[in-house]
Amino acid sequence: MPGVERTLSIVKPDGVEKNVIGDVIRRFEGSGLDVVALKMLRLSPEEAGRFYYVHRERPFYRDLAGYMSSGPVVVMVLEGEGAINRVREIMGATDPAKAAPGTIRADHAESIERNIVHGSDSSGSADFEIPFFFPEVGIFSR
Ligand code: CDP
Ligand code: MG
Repeated sequence: MPGVERTLSIVKPDGVEKNVIGDVIRRFEGSGLDVVALKMLRLSPEEAGRFYYVHRERPFYRDLAGYMSSGPVVVMVLEGEGAINRVREIMGATDPAKAAPGTIRADHAESIERNIVHGSDSSGSADFEIPFFFPEVGIFSR
């Protein structure tokens, strides 16, 4: 058992545009996770590039920074048992064509690039991504 974890999720610009903010949060809350921090903001291309720095050598890096800064996003911290993998399962695979039926990406995403939602992929990623957006005093564990 991984125990209680925190993970960062983002409703990406296409998710905000499609009005699925509530649906994404409902799925997370419905699985027993707690929203312990939440805000809407718009990333600059530079900030988006820093957030996805791990992908700096990938061919899609520049387009990804452009997409992630193309409109407002909703960022949140989720907390609960095995939160990191639980969020990844609820999101579905990166490519919506390969995402399991009933996942957020299978239901809403249009492509591997524009895929509605982000979730930390490991505790190491969560340790970088959560403080990227939220100071510890801005997180409300219950
Ligand atoms: O988001 P996830 O962790 O599932 O995938 P990733 O491999 O960490 O890639 C980060 C993001 O880059 C994806 O969610 C896509 O928005 C984008 N991406 C892309 O544009 N083209 C790819 N071939 C792979 C990822
Ligand atoms: Mg990732």
